Amino acid sequence: MTAVISMSEIEAGAAALGGLPATWLRDNCGCADCRDPHSGQRLVSITDKPERVWIAAVTAASGSITLAFGPDGHEAVYQESWIAGQQTEQPDPRTEDARLLWTASDFVGQIPAACWPRYLADDGHRAASLDRLLRTGFVLIRDVPAEPGGVLSAAETMGFVRETNYGRLFDVRVEATPANLAFTGLPIAPHTDNPFAYSDAAAELTATRPMIGLDPRGRIREVRFNNRSMQPLRPWPGGRPGEVAERAVAFYAAHRAFAEILARPELMLTFRLGPEDCVTFDNTRILHARTGFAATGNRHLQGCCADLDGVASSRRYRNDQASQRVSGSLAHNGETKDGS
Ligand SMILES: [Fe+2]
Ligand SMILES: [Zn+2]
Repeated sequence: MTAVISMSEIEAGAAALGGLPATWLRDNCGCADCRDPHSGQRLVSITDKPERVWIAAVTAASGSITLAFGPDGHEAVYQESWIAGQQTEQPDPRTEDARLLWTASDFVGQIPAACWPRYLADDGHRAASLDRLLRTGFVLIRDVPAEPGGVLSAAETMGFVRETNYGRLFDVRVEATPANLAFTGLPIAPHTDNPFAYSDAAAELTATRPMIGLDPRGRIREVRFNNRSMQPLRPWPGGRPGEVAERAVAFYAAHRAFAEILARPELMLTFRLGPEDCVTFDNTRILHARTGFAATGNRHLQGCCADLDGVASSRRYRNDQASQRVSGSLAHNGETKDGS
């Protein structure tokens, strides 16, 4: 099926409302028939609406615009400020567009840091800390009690803790028969954790995901890089031997070039973690590493993983809480609660 939108329809919408077409406006009507006034969720689906709509009448008064749509005469009221807000670009929060790009010299003497007791007590501080984590890629939370599972308390404020192949909580300390180089005193080169395609507790781990993941517009969305767990490259189904070999050579050249970028000293920020320090980072963009240490010492680090979507959701919730206290209200066209 092909939806035909006439030029006059688009032009009519454009003239009245800064380029927003009638189909868009009708779809975003906030009346009580279109959206539930309490939850803000949609009550009608796209197939409940006429396939072809147009603006039949426009009335503007004191900051709001009232539209009547053809062919059914449906009426919608929009705040002009809301309409204006819908026309600002919204970068994909997961791509480089929404992330602050930095070099280590940006943080001399001022590592992005939060204070755990304040984080718990102050929505503004928490929102700013989560914002730092999302935009800068990491934030150091200080004064997190150094007790077993303390890291879980921190992660649970940000999103859902994910149970991975290492469990819900993992311990990094020197072991007698280490299953992972992390459980030795050896230095560990920069890497992202769990680059596998499946990283839940039960699944077989296979690294079939790209090292550099792009969004549909070709913007960089995430990187995965873990030399320790990399397995031999294998032919793809139907790959001819010559072609497979050629691709393997090209892969190693690209892999080396990427690794050389990652190892640039100006991109590496080094600091020492002490007791009660909890470093939180975006594992889709920040690689982490450690220097070696004496295997006879008592170093004990605990870690866990939480979904990044939860951090973004938590930040938005905290921002809403903070602004709700200021304005007393959040309601406007288009605000909705997620979930089903
Ligand atoms: Fe790691
Ligand atoms: Zn409506």
